[in-house]
Amino acid sequence: MGPLQILVLGTLAACCGAVAALNPILPRACNDLEVLAAADFALQDINRDQKDGYMLSLNRVSAVWEHRQDSLGSLFYLVLDVLQTDCHVLSRKAWKDCAVRSLHESVYGQCKALFYLNKPRRIVYAPAYNCTLRPVSRRKIYFMCPDCPIPTTTDMSNPKVLDAAIISLEKFNQNSPLKQYSLVKVTKATSQWVVGPAFFVEYLIKESPCNKSQASGCSLQFSDSVSIPELPVGLCKGSLTQTDLENFVSVTCDFFATQAPAPGTQNSAGNQGPSTLSKEQEPHQENVASTVTPSEAVPRGTIQYLPDLDDEKLKNSQGEGSREAFPVQLDLTTNPQGEPLDVSFLFSGPVEERLVVLPFPKGQHPAECPGKPQDANPLVLPL
Ligand SMILES: *[C@@H]1O[C@H](CO)[C@@H](O)[C@H](O)[C@H]1NC(C)=O
Ligand SMILES: *[C@@H]1O[C@H](CO)[C@@H](O)[C@H](O)[C@H]1NC(C)=O
Repeated sequence: MGPLQILVLGTLAACCGAVAALNPILPRACNDLEVLAAADFALQDINRDQKDGYMLSLNRVSAVWEHRQDSLGSLFYLVLDVLQTDCHVLSRKAWKDCAVRSLHESVYGQCKALFYLNKPRRIVYAPAYNCTLRPVSRRKIYFMCPDCPIPTTTDMSNPKVLDAAIISLEKFNQNSPLKQYSLVKVTKATSQWVVGPAFFVEYLIKESPCNKSQASGCSLQFSDSVSIPELPVGLCKGSLTQTDLENFVSVTCDFFATQAPAPGTQNSAGNQGPSTLSKEQEPHQENVASTVTPSEAVPRGTIQYLPDLDDEKLKNSQGEGSREAFPVQLDLTTNPQGEPLDVSFLFSGPVEERLVVLPFPKGQHPAECPGKPQDANPLVLPL
């Protein structure tokens, strides 16, 4: 190719905004530091986008492709193996500050995410994601640990679960001199035989209008939210163990740092956790990912919870062959040439910036994928 041809190509590319399509999309190594930083930011963004449930943490990068878009930066296509933590999404903590759940109560799965990184402009943003999670196999846990607590329904249909929440919250209220709290909802429940039946629950609480003198009977108020908004202020972990002689009750509550603005609305307070990009390259999470969401009405993704894989296998055993255990669909387009994605709102000023989005790539990983897992137990790796 002569210099003239290169010049012509370059001019063409610059004129028509199709620059990015000229770059090939390339697989990258899953343990690459920049890839890990991208995965970190993408997961923070996904967590911040949630209104309900528990935060996810990265177990490993399963596959990754980068599509360089010249002056606009890069669009990453990430496949992330994730684990549920014990931090509620409303805590707005950094997922790295949250503990993953013990093996017997693990919830694990896979996310696909598009992740836009523009280092010079300090933009980090996940325009789209989808995740699919399942609880760890109860059957396999039972083999290893027949006495471990087993998950129980949280939908209030089990009176024991409700009792455990109400009685433990009463205990908390008794020791709370200033404010009283009431139950919003149970978010997790397990049961176990200890010296009698024991129930372990996690639940959201809100401030209660009741004062101390009315405290008893005040824990349970689902319908008094006319005057006070139903804003959960914390997550409690409680337990109730029953014996013939006595009930044992325990409770601890973790209050959310701030009533941060709703996800995606405006610069949320608080530190967003460490980044693994080097200092001079580090994009500023504060003024970036959370800046603006073009339209609150359009969700960027969903986290889908499926049942224990064993239950499903039993049901389908005589049916069609094995389906994907953790199906995650993320296709903004099926056009192999790609489609434009308007990201102007991420830039300050009246600019029009468009990324090119391709169908989510399949197959062809470099040898360095998947990356090294934080937890290598096959029970929590989506295969
Ligand atoms: C508790 O609330 C009731 C009614 O809401 C009120 O009459 C009573 O004075 C309050 N007691 C205290 C100690 O604030
Ligand atoms: C995300 O998953 C849902 C199903 O869970 C699907 O309807 C939706 O189209 C997916 N989003 C994208 C962008 O593919």
